[in-house]
Amino acid sequence: MSKTNRNTFVEDFVKRNGREPRVSITTFGCQMNEHDSEIVMGLLKERGYSKVEERGEADVAILNTCSVRENADKRFFGTLGQLKKLKEKNPAFITCVCGCMMQQQHIIDKLKTSYPWVDVIVGTHNIHTLPGLMDNLIEEKKRQLEILPEAVEMMEELPSQRLFKHKALVNIMYGCNNFCTYCIVPYTRGRERSRSPEHIIQEIRNLVADGVVEVMLLGQNVNSYRGAGEDGTWEFPRLLEAINEIEGLERIRFMTSHPKDMSDELISSFGKLDKLCKYVHLPVQAGSDKVLKKMNRRYKVSDYLKLIEKLRKTASEITISTDIIVGFPGETDEDFEGTLNLVETVRYDSAFTFLYSIRKDTPAEKFKDQVEESVKHERFNRLVEAVNKISAEKNCEYMGKTYKVLVDGFSKTNALSLSGRTDGFKLVNFPVPEGIDGERLIGKILDVKITEAKTFSLEGELV
Ligand code: 5AD
Ligand code: SF4
Repeated sequence: MSKTNRNTFVEDFVKRNGREPRVSITTFGCQMNEHDSEIVMGLLKERGYSKVEERGEADVAILNTCSVRENADKRFFGTLGQLKKLKEKNPAFITCVCGCMMQQQHIIDKLKTSYPWVDVIVGTHNIHTLPGLMDNLIEEKKRQLEILPEAVEMMEELPSQRLFKHKALVNIMYGCNNFCTYCIVPYTRGRERSRSPEHIIQEIRNLVADGVVEVMLLGQNVNSYRGAGEDGTWEFPRLLEAINEIEGLERIRFMTSHPKDMSDELISSFGKLDKLCKYVHLPVQAGSDKVLKKMNRRYKVSDYLKLIEKLRKTASEITISTDIIVGFPGETDEDFEGTLNLVETVRYDSAFTFLYSIRKDTPAEKFKDQVEESVKHERFNRLVEAVNKISAEKNCEYMGKTYKVLVDGFSKTNALSLSGRTDGFKLVNFPVPEGIDGERLIGKILDVKITEAKTFSLEGELV
């Protein structure tokens, strides 16, 4: 385990440079990683480091990696190349890497042989030791590597530097037991472990006291949450019910759900709990029973469609998004047509579409019938077109109506506009009304009338 040498490096640094050492953190992948980065930043802030967006202005760069698809790997190694240049300019520059890729032996081997400028390497099960490893690096002047094969303790009460003041990511469970045949996550994040309900509820109470109005409950498969409470095991619907009671909290979201664990009780929560947002991300992955079986998804297309029907019956306004993989080994034209049909039947508000990418050491890596790249791409383009057309049509249904929007901040593309999300997670942009300080509207839930519908967002005006 790492030693701690709290703040001596930081104090010296401040004396020498007249400022705190600056950390840039780049996050690849999912919201679990986003949250891990918030925790690492929280821990470093406690030690006196400050955050900086630009890597070029940093003294420490951290890359928090993802290994779900191949292009994330490629981007990581590309970014490491850029860090080498920064290190050449400034030998005191510190480079740290963490996250899912570090749980794969072939990546560690590659870092050891070809990337000598990487200073600290830490896995997914002990990211909280990263600051201590940085201290060790400074003291011992040699590379620090700490990868645990599995989680040894539940990480509790870690500080977090949130991206937003008014909304927070909250882990409720870690890991995944599902072993979908294409997926690396069960190997990089380990088996399912649920946090205790008391810890989760206390964390949310503290967040609300700190100004949070919306929480996103995170887990690879939140609906199989089983937390050991003081009075026995809690399942996910009970946890939601308890969180719904927290005074001052306005909105609850969760992700990701696995269709096989979407129980009737959980579906009924959407009808019962006023704070639970009417939005669900329910990855389907494919619209062919044969492909689903080979993916080890453990449901059929008809089961999935029944879930959608029940969800819409419970909450007619619910918005639904999904993940779809194109070109899984053995996918025929007919299987792919099944996926297109499913998309047309469900009519998703949005869908994340992925080209199947071979992941080392997963069962699907060994499947013989890999789909040709050109076929994959052609199918992918057709799917994206179908998905986008439906998203645009669905967004048109919002025209002229007024929705409650939680304002997240200024629009990324227009500094005179604010942007936020509806309860159904639709992105809405609206101009800052004249004479009003936009900054003061951030974190508020406001009524916005929709005046224009685009494929991926809505435009509106404050009412
Ligand atoms: N290839 C392509 N997409 C993948 N996903 C997971 N593993 C792979 C893979 N090997 C997608 C799934 C999952 C999302 C997070 O990433 O659709 O739901
Ligand atoms: Fe991967 Fe399947 Fe687990 Fe999701 S449910 S993390 S796709 S193995």
